[in-house]
Amino acid sequence: MLSRILLCFFLLRLAAPDEEGFLFNGFQGAHLNLDGAAEITSEGLVRLTNSTAPDKSHVFFGDPVRFKGDPGSNVYSFSSCFVFGIVPLYPGLSGHGVAFFISPSKDLHGTIGSQYMGLFNTSNNGNPSNHIFAVELDTVRNPEFGDIDDNHVGIDINSMSSFESRPVGFYANSSGRFENLSLISGGPIQVWVEYDGERMQVNVTVSPMEAAKPSVPLLSSVVNLSSVLLDRPMYVGLSSSSNTFLSSHYLMGWSFKMNGAAQALNISGLPALPRNRAAGQHPLEIWLRLAVALSALVAVASIIILVRRKIKYAELLEDWEKDYRHRRFPYKELFDATHGFDEKGLLGEGGFGRVYNGILPRSKVEVAIKRISHESSHGMKQFIAEIVSIGRLRHRHLVEFLGYCRRRGELLLVYNLMPGGSLDKLLFDHAGLTLEWKERLRIIKGVAAGLLYLHEEWEKVVIHRDVKASNVLLDSDFNGRLGDFGLARLYDHGSDPQRTQVFGTVGYLAPEMIRTRRATKATDVFAFGVFLLEVACGRRPVDPKSPEVEMVLVDWVLRCWRSERILQVVDPRMREYVAEEVETVLKLGLLCCDPLPGARPSMRQVSLFLEGLLPLPESGSSYLDPSVTALMENEALDVRFMSYSPETVSLLYVGR
Ligand SMILES: *[C@@H]1O[C@H](CO)[C@@H](O)[C@H](O)[C@H]1NC(C)=O
Ligand SMILES: *[C@@H]1O[C@H](CO)[C@@H](O)[C@H](O)[C@H]1NC(C)=O
Ligand SMILES: *[C@@H]1O[C@H](CO)[C@@H](O)[C@H](O)[C@H]1NC(C)=O
Ligand SMILES: *[C@@H]1O[C@H](CO)[C@@H](O)[C@H](O)[C@H]1NC(C)=O
Ligand SMILES: *[C@@H]1O[C@H](CO)[C@@H](O)[C@H](O)[C@H]1NC(C)=O
Ligand SMILES: *[C@@H]1O[C@H](CO)[C@@H](O)[C@H](O)[C@H]1NC(C)=O
Ligand SMILES: *[C@@H]1O[C@H](CO)[C@@H](O)[C@H](O)[C@H]1NC(C)=O
Repeated sequence: MLSRILLCFFLLRLAAPDEEGFLFNGFQGAHLNLDGAAEITSEGLVRLTNSTAPDKSHVFFGDPVRFKGDPGSNVYSFSSCFVFGIVPLYPGLSGHGVAFFISPSKDLHGTIGSQYMGLFNTSNNGNPSNHIFAVELDTVRNPEFGDIDDNHVGIDINSMSSFESRPVGFYANSSGRFENLSLISGGPIQVWVEYDGERMQVNVTVSPMEAAKPSVPLLSSVVNLSSVLLDRPMYVGLSSSSNTFLSSHYLMGWSFKMNGAAQALNISGLPALPRNRAAGQHPLEIWLRLAVALSALVAVASIIILVRRKIKYAELLEDWEKDYRHRRFPYKELFDATHGFDEKGLLGEGGFGRVYNGILPRSKVEVAIKRISHESSHGMKQFIAEIVSIGRLRHRHLVEFLGYCRRRGELLLVYNLMPGGSLDKLLFDHAGLTLEWKERLRIIKGVAAGLLYLHEEWEKVVIHRDVKASNVLLDSDFNGRLGDFGLARLYDHGSDPQRTQVFGTVGYLAPEMIRTRRATKATDVFAFGVFLLEVACGRRPVDPKSPEVEMVLVDWVLRCWRSERILQVVDPRMREYVAEEVETVLKLGLLCCDPLPGARPSMRQVSLFLEGLLPLPESGSSYLDPSVTALMENEALDVRFMSYSPETVSLLYVGR
């Protein structure tokens, strides 16, 4: 029964916003909630921050207030008036000031004090989902929020960057002149915040406590609060924060009214501010204390700088890496080379990480630095061993690997910069210049030579694992060079559950890889075949936007070849080309993409075909063998379909 009465009472309160309001001339026994260091003193003041420790604190009126009637309707008019005083420990130095605010919740413990005034934090500052309206009386100029000075009033909507702000002062009635007012003068200041729901206008007026309210507001601004204030009841509060320059913020009186003017405070009846504690001290003593405080600050700051520097340049170095010292870059060097990994030097971004342009500070060599986030150290040892050993190999058609660096959760790889950028940009971004056939053929031959070197000519067999146009980089003479060898291997050990599926790039994966997950020379050849088709046709291996028959490049080229219209697939942007050469490349591409790994040529054969030293087998491909076609249709085709179907694309796609 009692709870029903209470509920009715509660509903009535909410349903009758006209009656909502409060008036506190001093806060003895006031219906308030306080947090942080806030407390009600025996004189009836609210001390928001106490001058012994930096802090933030809030005072809320105990009951929530409804600012809207029907959902979606306009915000009601409201007004509030309060008197506060800042009493600095040392004259002229102060904390951050006071703010009137409306918030969805009384729990603001996640917010930051100091310049955020206990209203926001670094992660939510500026979010529309904060639903916080505030009027700040700020005594510190924070350039990061665009503060105009160190003594201003600002209207804040979900952010400490004020919607509008003005230096504190008031327009004298008689003369109409603007009079400056200092927030930290120590004297009590009266503030009126008024919102006109019809006109959506916020007025803020400030004056010394003893003066009557000036008729012209200091700040008058049209603000639509409909999306800021919520349909459900919200809390009104006053907040404050102080910093190393300790000061106490006091509230002397506060009134609030929904749909009307807040009741005037009884100025003569308000509790008095305490006297400035430092006021009676000898100036020399103040300066001495300040000097001590400052030198302590300097000491703390230098320790912080040292520690931060240590963290900033921290690296990860394990025992097994001792042998690779000669390939190791200090992180600081890479950091300096890229101006702290400045976005301006970003060359590209892909599944494996971001690539930055930089100049090594000592050698002045231009480099590309790949920054890969990699949590697990599993597989890392093998990977580093492999790339460092590959790093020894030098070849005209391989991008030169210079070294690496490891940090917690990331790996940095340093390569020689290729000024021509990556081939896929030229092939697929239809904006820049078009590569003519002669250049394309030269690039193809270069990449073939590079891959042949990896497969057969170096002391160890190296499987590239991710041959594709975006891993082909162009040097200053537009020669193609293969980059990124072995990177796919880093994700190949099942160490990273989200990456277990990853062993190359969709569209370049040989069908048997889906089953065996093993990269071989033959799977590299398959990817090289797809690469040949890409270069000749000027499009990506899987293009979801194309008509269905053309979506998968290999299938489309095959279809056109069967119906003897193979030149139909050639990149229409090329102005001239030698038909026989293009035909050879396309057929060779199909030959390399043979579904049966054993039927694919080796890279040595590929090079001979490309140089015209060996004729292409006319009907060598399994594609033409009826039994293989049947097999493909039964099983292999499923696999092929799987590797190409758009659903698996999202699962498997890691390429750029
Ligand atoms: C300030 O607050 C601390 C703890 O919150 C308290 O111990 C101390 O007495 C307070 N100082 C003053 C001057 O009230
Ligand atoms: C930021 O403040 C919001 C609201 O007070 C809180 O929910 C959130 O956890 C805070 N975030 C951090 C990182 O402290
Ligand atoms: C008020 O303050 C501003 C800047 O803070 C200053 O330029 C101006 O001269 C001051 N006006 C008076 C009347 O003191
Ligand atoms: C705000 O100030 C303007 C004059 O600058 C006045 O016309 C308007 O009525 C005021 N609004 C409120 C809500 O006091
Ligand atoms: C200014 O004018 C308003 C309205 O005319 C009046 O209420 C107020 O007392 C005046 N203030 C001063 C400081 O004279
Ligand atoms: C105020 O904002 C609300 C919600 O964002 C919008 O629906 C309404 O049209 C706005 N009113 C005016 C006058 O702009
Ligand atoms: C204002 O406060 C004074 C001192 O407490 C008291 O004498 C006076 O009656 C109050 N005035 C009103 C209007 O409440």
